[in-house]
Amino acid sequence: MCILICLPAHFNPMCLCVYICVCEVCLTDHASCGCCLMQQQLYRMESFFNMSLNELQRDLERAENVLNDIRATRSAFSVALTNDRWCLGPFRDVVPVVYQHVFINLAGSYSIQTGKFIVPRSGVYSFSLTVYSDAGSAGNTLAACASLYHNNILIAGPSDRNAQDQEDSSTSVVALHANAGDEVHVKLPIGCYLCDNNSHFNTFSGFLLYATD
Ligand SMILES: *[C@@H]1O[C@H](CO)[C@@H](O)[C@H](O)[C@H]1NC(C)=O
Ligand SMILES: *[C@@H]1O[C@H](CO)[C@@H](O)[C@H](O)[C@H]1NC(C)=O
Repeated sequence: MCILICLPAHFNPMCLCVYICVCEVCLTDHASCGCCLMQQQLYRMESFFNMSLNELQRDLERAENVLNDIRATRSAFSVALTNDRWCLGPFRDVVPVVYQHVFINLAGSYSIQTGKFIVPRSGVYSFSLTVYSDAGSAGNTLAACASLYHNNILIAGPSDRNAQDQEDSSTSVVALHANAGDEVHVKLPIGCYLCDNNSHFNTFSGFLLYATD
């Protein structure tokens, strides 16, 4: 039983329909029967389409929210030591490495004043650190090394030291969970030194893989 009543209209191939469609009329009035069944089918189809449309609208809304969230949490920075020919170190103390050349710095989370990346949003981040040094000539002491810190805890310390060749480099890539407000930065250990020019051999990069808050 549906909610429409259908009566055959003799002047019109379509029927007149009001409220309740009691299909038992089929038993007594064969003329209204086909029309009644058609109305029932139409009603079912309309209900089905309405339901499908509502589901699609809900899914679309959910997908749009997820997308907006991803857009709002985008985070990436990538910096190099310098654009000019320049060496940093060696020093008697541990000093922060302040990378000067910015490739990308979304929302300014990396500071070229302090060299620190302040985590904008809790999540799993990927960080990479590549160090390079040039002794000037073969035989000179070479110490291409630097250390990656997360809240002053040592995460990785790529290092390449010897006196045989003139150039050395080393790389570390890590993924770690960091909380909003955490600091990630690079320090130059005692005795290490880094050299760079506009070939950007010394880079420090990080980006958010996914947010967890
Ligand atoms: C389908 O949706 C339309 C528009 O919201 C509404 O007017 C109609 O009554 C709905 N039909 C059914 C069968 O639910
Ligand atoms: C940058 O440094 C590398 C290695 O020390 C050197 O081969 C290259 O010529 C330098 N580039 C410039 C523009 O000075």
